[in-house]
Amino acid sequence: MSEKKVIRIGILGFGTVGQGTWKQLTDNANSLSRILGVSLEPVRAAVRDLSKAREVEISTDQLTSDAQSIVDDPDIDVICELMGGVEVARELTLRAFANGKHVVTANKALICEHGQEMFEAAEKANVRYAFEASVAGGIPIIKVLRECLVANEFPLVYGILNGTSNYILTRMEQEGASFEEVLNDARSLGYVEADEALDLDGVDAAHKAVILAYLAHGMWYPIEDMPIEGIRRISNEDLQAARDLNCKIKLIAVIRRNFSNNHVSVGVHPALVPMDEIIARTDGVYNGVSITGTAVGTTVLTGRGAGQDPTASSVVGDIVDIVKTITGDAPPPKLLHVTPDQCSPATAREVKGSFYLRLTVDDRPGQLAQVAEALSDQEISIATVSQTLKECRNAASLILTTHKTNEHSMALAMEKLEKLPGVLEAPVLFRMFDPNGKDNS
Ligand code: NAP
Ligand code: HSE
Repeated sequence: MSEKKVIRIGILGFGTVGQGTWKQLTDNANSLSRILGVSLEPVRAAVRDLSKAREVEISTDQLTSDAQSIVDDPDIDVICELMGGVEVARELTLRAFANGKHVVTANKALICEHGQEMFEAAEKANVRYAFEASVAGGIPIIKVLRECLVANEFPLVYGILNGTSNYILTRMEQEGASFEEVLNDARSLGYVEADEALDLDGVDAAHKAVILAYLAHGMWYPIEDMPIEGIRRISNEDLQAARDLNCKIKLIAVIRRNFSNNHVSVGVHPALVPMDEIIARTDGVYNGVSITGTAVGTTVLTGRGAGQDPTASSVVGDIVDIVKTITGDAPPPKLLHVTPDQCSPATAREVKGSFYLRLTVDDRPGQLAQVAEALSDQEISIATVSQTLKECRNAASLILTTHKTNEHSMALAMEKLEKLPGVLEAPVLFRMFDPNGKDNS
């Protein structure tokens, strides 16, 4: 048992999550100290701009623009890296490990890009690197995957990992509001990341998917090989068409493994999700993750995937776990949680599924025949077709769904469809998610 009576915490970044963490540590100081038998004391925080007004007031000598001085402070036991970005955060975290400090992070971009290096460095320094807040905000998905469901293998993990895009899609779907209108509201509510592409183009969800794939299968899936699509091309017409098919369009990350060859597919894309799936009914800024385990069956976790209090709640949970290790009340979990199997990425030919396709075409004879030919050239079979006339133009909107095919054939068909003379706009293509699909389909 450690002799320590106070564990001192330094926070890198005093923005949304940093301030939330300070506030929760302060507000819950008594109960945390009762649980742990030691006091947790947030002592210093680093920012870029000392003159900025802060919601959570702390004394001026506790705030610094010299983040390294916190990492090098011998009185600090645990660092919370809540500044975001990759390179500076990486350097400071490695320095903290080298100084013997445990680190808690919410930084999914850093883990996605340098996870292997970071975990190895922490292991070498015999300190903890905890990252519950990096995926799905307040939902305890990391702990569930790596600890609670350790008796399982995972043929399928899928879900909504980005709250901002889910908020936008939900309001478009429920109110018929336009993408731009809802995006502006999301900006005013402070939901959208400073780099909007992270939310709107699926990149933030892809960072989180890499982390979940690592926890489920022990492989760092190369993000540059991952099919990543965002929500910018989803129209109100698509959302309505999806409803007619008893589905909702959600931006989902899908991680599947074929256990016969250990090929893993990971992708982030808008997909038509059947209404009877909990994920289809996970709306607003909420996230939802559905985990299918070989022993447990399907377990779904939903909750607040972003925001100050939910995310700080995960940070504080990690701090508490680390303190239990420091005080000797709990052994440290193995940092590199890898399965012994050697997994590798599935090819586009192996990834199978059905598709939803919307084409804006000239309203004249032969268009549907050309489209059907481009699909049948790739042996893609059409499941349903519907056509509506566009107002103000001699054009029609053609919505098709396909039977099961593979990503490679669909990509070839799309190249052909884009070039057809009567196709007036770039075709819109979404996957149709099949919760009962096996292997990589
Ligand atoms: P934020 O509000 O923008 O806060 C970032 C803080 O870091 C700011 O206080 C900023 O200083 C400080 N900072 C940035 N670069 C710095 C540097 N080089 N030196 C010193 N301080 C620096 O960001 P956030 O929303 O709290 O996000 C923090 C992390 O949590 C990110 O990795 C993010 O992806 C992750 N995360 C956020 C949420 C969420 O809901 N917000 C949810 C899950 C995970 P100034 O204030 O002076 O600019
Ligand atoms: N921008 C992210 C989201 C923040 O909207 O989900 C939480 O990681």
